[in-house]
Amino acid sequence: MSITTLANTMATANGSGYLQLRGVGKRFGETVVLSDLDIDIGEGEFISLIGPSGSGKTTTLRIIAGLESPTTGAVLVDGKDITALLPNERDFAMVFQHFALFPHLDVFQNVAYGLRIRGMKKAEMERQVLPMLERVGLRELATRKVGELSGGQRQRVGIARALIVKPRLLLLDEPTGSLDTKLKLAMQTELKALHKESGLTFIHVTHNQSEALALADRVYVMNDGRIEQQGSPTEVYRYPATRFVADFVGRNNLIDGTLEHGSFRSAMGTFPAGAGAAQLPGGAGTAVIRADAIHLGAAEPGAASLPVRLDALEYAGSIVTWFLRGPAGPLTADVPADDSGRLDPQIGDAYEAWWNPDDVHYLRAETRDGLKGG
Ligand SMILES: Nc1ncnc2c1ncn2[C@@H]1O[C@H](COP(=O)(O)OP(=O)(O)OP(=O)(O)O)[C@@H](O)[C@H]1O
Ligand SMILES: [Mg+2]
Repeated sequence: MSITTLANTMATANGSGYLQLRGVGKRFGETVVLSDLDIDIGEGEFISLIGPSGSGKTTTLRIIAGLESPTTGAVLVDGKDITALLPNERDFAMVFQHFALFPHLDVFQNVAYGLRIRGMKKAEMERQVLPMLERVGLRELATRKVGELSGGQRQRVGIARALIVKPRLLLLDEPTGSLDTKLKLAMQTELKALHKESGLTFIHVTHNQSEALALADRVYVMNDGRIEQQGSPTEVYRYPATRFVADFVGRNNLIDGTLEHGSFRSAMGTFPAGAGAAQLPGGAGTAVIRADAIHLGAAEPGAASLPVRLDALEYAGSIVTWFLRGPAGPLTADVPADDSGRLDPQIGDAYEAWWNPDDVHYLRAETRDGLKGG
């Protein structure tokens, strides 16, 4: 047995998932763009990579696709090291952040491209392309030049073109990034349905956290070229592991203070700590309170409460966001529109804000201090 075969056998024995990134790092010249990424994806999963602009999401996808080689680490499929394989030797297809369509070709020709370069006959191409166009709602536009399509239609051409070659893995870079809100939601529904129907593995990149939480089975949160946290949308949303995640995912209030003897002491006040603190040792920490866990009006018995003033309001459908000022800093509350209406909010007026102490999630100070710039 050669050394490579031996290494592959061992990797297979260790590998739990379909696609793995092991200690992947990437430098462009002196700039470190990715550091020590470990990603493990099961076949058929819908994964979202989220993170702010420049956090390394596209670079990660390009490394998976083989369009970029990692400086360190390896990419494995079914436990086999594929780091050195060319993009066309991998069973993947990618839909790019910026449309990479041929503007002078029509919709049919764009989608058929991957089949044509494989030397497929016209009749067979039609047999495959037309149902695909039907599926993404572009059958009527088959002969339209892609230069004359809307952003959403072009995005669907990109997805159809990627799916037509029957990849095992679909990589989607900001597939809804250039769409308006209504189209974005329609495209999300389509993506979810395509994923379900096809049974393929999807890796989807977005800086829109609500899209990721809505679509993905599992989310990887990236910051500055590292994975901050991975988990189900619920885990990441309700139990952020770091200050960065608490800030980036959802709308959270972060209050620094000290946990001791069942209380949380901070410049905003001293509050009952609640069940979230039960397993934690005392000491410095940050209370993370979701904006929709902050209520206004008469507090329930046992609640944590503090006096606030109303600075500003934002109306967004069934939710009204109250921007408040507490004794030592701002506080944000997402209030159901009906409740908000009953309170007849007046900018500048005093209110009592309260929350159920059991709704608070705590971060320990080590986590906080471990982050640069936090
Ligand atoms: N070819 C390159 N040469 C040098 N630096 C690069 C190159 N490609 C990307 N970078 C840098 O790597 C970092 C990560 O870029 P990347 O495109 O992966 O970010 P991203 O998370 O996809 O951001 P966005 O949300 O804006 O698309 C950025 O600072 C970027 O400027
Ligand atoms: Mg990008």
